[in-house]
Amino acid sequence: AAGRRGYHERVVDHYSNPRNVGAFDKEDADVGTGLVGAPACGDVMKMQIRVDQASGRIVDACFKTFGCGSAIASSSVATEWVKGKQMDEVIAIKNTEIAKHLSLPPVKLHCSMLAEDAIKAAVKDYEAKKAKPAKADE
Ligand code: FES
Ligand code: FES
Repeated sequence: AAGRRGYHERVVDHYSNPRNVGAFDKEDADVGTGLVGAPACGDVMKMQIRVDQASGRIVDACFKTFGCGSAIASSSVATEWVKGKQMDEVIAIKNTEIAKHLSLPPVKLHCSMLAEDAIKAAVKDYEAKKAKPAKADE
């Protein structure tokens, strides 16, 4: 059902009551951080994942978005969707699935793209960290 001003009620819900707003310490070994910007509008999204290192499963996620309502709603949905999943599952999440879930109009597709990019960036950051041995002298 279309909500007020043509926005789907899920957008309004995730915008007014976003899930998982916050930040983890990006220095933590089990945290991956993705920071991305949308060239179209200059909005910025930071998404973080916390990974159970034994199972490789994402156990927690959070975000901070300086952007429009659709970007905030997309980040909120994305953090909900990545929890409990493996890396290969979350990098397969498509912005079009997020956009469909929120019934975003075509002009707002780039807002959901920001969420897809942020997930991928967070996974990449985590994997880069894992590949690098911890420095003992710092
Ligand atoms: Fe929030 Fe579906 S309405 S994830
Ligand atoms: Fe740019 Fe939504 S208008 S992220």
